[in-house]
Amino acid sequence: MDKRITVPAVRAMKGVKRIGMITAYDYPSAKVADAAGSDIILVGDSLGMVVLGYPDTLSVTVDDMLHHTRAAVRGASHALVVGDMPYLSYHVSIEESVRNAGRFIQAGAHAVKVEGGKPSRIRVIEAILDAEIPVMGHIGLTPQSVNTLGGFKLQGKNLDDAHRLVDEAQALDQIGCFAIVLECVPSELAAMITERVSVPTIGIGAGPACEGQVLVFHDLLGIYDGHTPKFVRRYANIADDMRAAIEHYLADVRDGSFPDDAKESFHAASADELRALYGEGVVIEMPKAK
Ligand code: KIV
Repeated sequence: MDKRITVPAVRAMKGVKRIGMITAYDYPSAKVADAAGSDIILVGDSLGMVVLGYPDTLSVTVDDMLHHTRAAVRGASHALVVGDMPYLSYHVSIEESVRNAGRFIQAGAHAVKVEGGKPSRIRVIEAILDAEIPVMGHIGLTPQSVNTLGGFKLQGKNLDDAHRLVDEAQALDQIGCFAIVLECVPSELAAMITERVSVPTIGIGAGPACEGQVLVFHDLLGIYDGHTPKFVRRYANIADDMRAAIEHYLADVRDGSFPDDAKESFHAASADELRALYGEGVVIEMPKAK
């Protein structure tokens, strides 16, 4: 694999090369995503839903995120790893936000992602950037605002909202975010934002005009059985394969065909060794298959 993708390299992809980004939450998933050639691996707080089984992302803590970030970092040797700052990690004070962002970098992430682009959020992101921590913006449907937004819904549908999102994207661009995720907005609006910012836009439910795309690992591979949004393309049904494999294993255990005594078991080196272990005249019986 060639060398690590950097933050300046991602910026430079604007208008040159489409960016492939996927979430991953642990060593094996990051390793597979990295080997497949992902440019960016996002340790997303979506792990709250697809890995930890919560109904939304709001219960995820910084400690949860750091635990998963460290594991994903160990699996990624090529992709840029972005740590997703969870709910309440950048909402209380600027100082706390910078400290939390720094913990992601100390866990091995190369950048952090922060949701939102309102003026108070812009001030927080500026402070994080000022601490030499690259920030990926995220606007549109921001799942940490699910209660304010009234659900996981398409954003930027009316003129005021569309204007607000264009303003937020431009503000994130101007302060120095290196890329901006656009989630669940009309394609036309995403195209307009993409044209008006100097950094790559990465879409999820934002149409083909974005310069990159991101999907959640478990959605793409068919591992998560919760609600699958319209914008997800499922490339495999791994949960079905996993279940079939486990059913096969359990059937083999129950009918005695696993483990195979020749191929999958160990044996005493010699009859002398067995006699020494059990004593003379002891007959060792293998359990019979049922
Ligand atoms: O947490 C996440 O996985 C995300 C992506 C969907 C952009 O924020």
